Amino acid sequence: MDTALIILAAGQGSRMKSDLPKVLHEIADAPMLVHAMKAADSLQPERIVVVTGHGGEAVGRAARDWDERAEIAVQEEQLGTGHAVAQAAPLLKSFNGDAFVLFGDTPFIRPETLDALKQARQQNDVVILGFHAADRDARYGRLVMDGETLQRIVEYKDASPEERAISFCNSGVLCADAALLFDLITEVKNDNASAEYYLTDIVGIARARGLTATAVACDEAETMGINSRIDLARAEAAFQAGARVKALEDGVTLVAPETVYFAHDTVLGRDSIIEPNVVFGPGVTVETGARVRAFSHLEGAHVSRGGTIGPFARLRPGAELAEDVHIGNFVEVKNAIIDRGAKVNHLSYIGDADIGEATNIGAGTITCNYDGVMKHRTRIGARVFVGSDTMLVAPVSLGDDAMTASGSVITSDVEPGALALARARQVNKPGMARKLMDRLRAIKAKQTGR
Ligand code: UD1
Ligand code: CA
Repeated sequence: MDTALIILAAGQGSRMKSDLPKVLHEIADAPMLVHAMKAADSLQPERIVVVTGHGGEAVGRAARDWDERAEIAVQEEQLGTGHAVAQAAPLLKSFNGDAFVLFGDTPFIRPETLDALKQARQQNDVVILGFHAADRDARYGRLVMDGETLQRIVEYKDASPEERAISFCNSGVLCADAALLFDLITEVKNDNASAEYYLTDIVGIARARGLTATAVACDEAETMGINSRIDLARAEAAFQAGARVKALEDGVTLVAPETVYFAHDTVLGRDSIIEPNVVFGPGVTVETGARVRAFSHLEGAHVSRGGTIGPFARLRPGAELAEDVHIGNFVEVKNAIIDRGAKVNHLSYIGDADIGEATNIGAGTITCNYDGVMKHRTRIGARVFVGSDTMLVAPVSLGDDAMTASGSVITSDVEPGALALARARQVNKPGMARKLMDRLRAIKAKQTGR
């Protein structure tokens, strides 16, 4: 059975007080919309339709960045969730299969939960995802059940006191045959407290036609919606807490878990050790047995087995480190491939570079990769010894087994096995230092009278 996702993301999100559409605010370095899309990956949807309104173009771009198949349905006016789903109908006119409706601002639905919905769909025409709300006064739609059968959903605003006393609430997620869903929606009216076309009305309409409906329950935490910056901060904290537990369960040592920050896609191998205050930006993989020491920041980087990073290291996008590479304190690496066993231990910038196996980069080495207009590459061979404080003015290369003298400014290629000396020759002037000091003191005495 084919699956289509319909993700509602047209709401303005005015409580965010932001120029950015709500669903583009990020949790763990990914727009909340992407979290919703990721959760539904396990359904392997054939079609993904995102219903957008405010900031639609940017929302569409973010959706396609994550999954290029994403299609956009524009909802010009936000007339309610039922109206929003109806905007997807023209795109899915000839689609045959089930539709899942998700909200773009509800990023924590688990794949297992969507699978449970799919299971329940085998015996039911319409399946709603519900949860038991801890707060009895929460303003969610209430699920009116009769045994296993869901009779209808009543929105809080329209509910009687008895109905408001029901704790089983609507998450907003639902699943039904796509053609049926669009057909049911044509019957939805807006004669309610909000004068909106409620998607939730389709349940009562389906029951009146003699169709079956039920609700599946999930944990309330999964249905957490984000409406304000406070919610966003809470969602971030919830994500981080979950990511830390998952890393620990997967066999990663986190010395101080609450100080480590993950991106939505961080991958840490078993037996890797992450010291306190490490931040992972998007696109990081750390393999088995690697160690990331305190106060390091990694983004778009790959650390292979046995590597050690930091303390106080920064790996930027394109940092590709082979086995047993050492990156030490106050070292920045960007767009550089560093081969097995190479060491960059102190105070260096390695950008747009290749570094060969077992090469040692001395303290304070800089690849001068940018001429103000273009970036250039530095190529360093295997077993090279780069002396401290070497400036490598790219494009430039050092052959295998070459050396550079400390303090060199290297502007031309160095052949394999050669020593490059590129600094002024030292001159010592006997007695000159004392003479100079005496003269300076005499000038000062004359000026101050002391
Ligand atoms: C909705 C449900 C309610 C449920 C709650 C869970 C309806 C009628 N009510 O209420 O039963 O308990 O979610 O959080 O469905 N949207 C559009 N276009 C619109 C209106 C909304 O795209 O015209 C999108 C919003 O961006 C949002 C989602 O739909 O992502 C939900 O809309 P919202 O207005 O927050 O619904 P609630 O009133 O919270
Ligand atoms: Ca809401």
